[in-house]
Amino acid sequence: MGKEIILSGMRPTGLLHLGNYFGALENWVKLQDEYKCLFFIADWHALTTGYEDTSEFRDNIESMVIDWLCAGLDPEKCTMFLQSSLIEHAELHLLLSMITPLSWLLRCPTYKDQIAQIKDKNITTYGFLGYPCLMATDILIYKAEYVPVGEDQLPHLEMTREIARRFNYIYKNIFPEPKPLLTEAKVLPGIDGRKMSKSYDNTILLSDSPDEIRKKVSMMITDPERIRKNDPGHPEVCTVFAFYKVFNEKNVCEVEEHCRKGKIGCVGCKRNLANIMVEYLAPIYERRQSLLNKPGHVKEIIHKGNKEARDIAQKTMEDVRSVMGMDWISNG
Ligand code: TRP
Ligand code: SF4
Repeated sequence: MGKEIILSGMRPTGLLHLGNYFGALENWVKLQDEYKCLFFIADWHALTTGYEDTSEFRDNIESMVIDWLCAGLDPEKCTMFLQSSLIEHAELHLLLSMITPLSWLLRCPTYKDQIAQIKDKNITTYGFLGYPCLMATDILIYKAEYVPVGEDQLPHLEMTREIARRFNYIYKNIFPEPKPLLTEAKVLPGIDGRKMSKSYDNTILLSDSPDEIRKKVSMMITDPERIRKNDPGHPEVCTVFAFYKVFNEKNVCEVEEHCRKGKIGCVGCKRNLANIMVEYLAPIYERRQSLLNKPGHVKEIIHKGNKEARDIAQKTMEDVRSVMGMDWISNG
């Protein structure tokens, strides 16, 4: 029996930060050793909300692939491809749109939230409403068994299962129902203690150099009640401590004790953390240096991935056309 198929995608929104790394990418890197993994750049999904300004699409796609490679995704172990290169997705999306009831799309919680929240651009479009149907396409076209996603994507995965069931019921049972693979989320705050997010300008990037990491760590917000070095601290409110929990699990107890007893100053505590982070992230940094003198390499990897993905997608489309009776010309 072949390995089970895992598929996941990311919208190309710019340079990835440590929140993206610990929230998804680190897990992808582990999965590529155990499963047949397909990871793709969801540029059409990015277009659903960002269609007006596409000036950064090219750069964002390229920098995201570079971040993936630096994180350790290996083109020999997994398939990395670009959604918009796979025209087959467009065909299946169209066919699935025929059987997807409007009511399912309209009641999707992510749709309702975004329509209520996003006021600075017009997302009341046909394309944006169909976001979950496009996502179902991405998954079903590879007959993926598992889909690693964050909790926010669960409604989309549920709708994918519903669309698969409906297709299987109307035509023929050809789509397995994919299951979510929830990553145990290691939560990293931003350097100001809020959620790490590009829009808050509080991120540490996967592409930050050791110097930039040290600088950002030194700017982190600590326990405001600690004024002198030997004041007892409250690690639970400290951003630095939240980072220790992710980067140095085995020594958190020690840091906690030293902080509570006022045995260590925040400056020293930050310096230790920065050292640990720089060491932890060194392989990522080194891979980036080695990619710098390989122009063209990134595109080659995506070309190869597109081809691997296309082989699977084309087979599925033959089945789909056949069971739907949409294969008149190819059928002699
Ligand atoms: N909607 C996903 C996100 O924003 C990205 C995505 C698109 C995806 N298609 C997918 C994830 C298929 C998993 C499977 O995170
Ligand atoms: Fe935070 Fe460390 Fe200062 Fe305690 S000693 S408040 S954990 S930086």
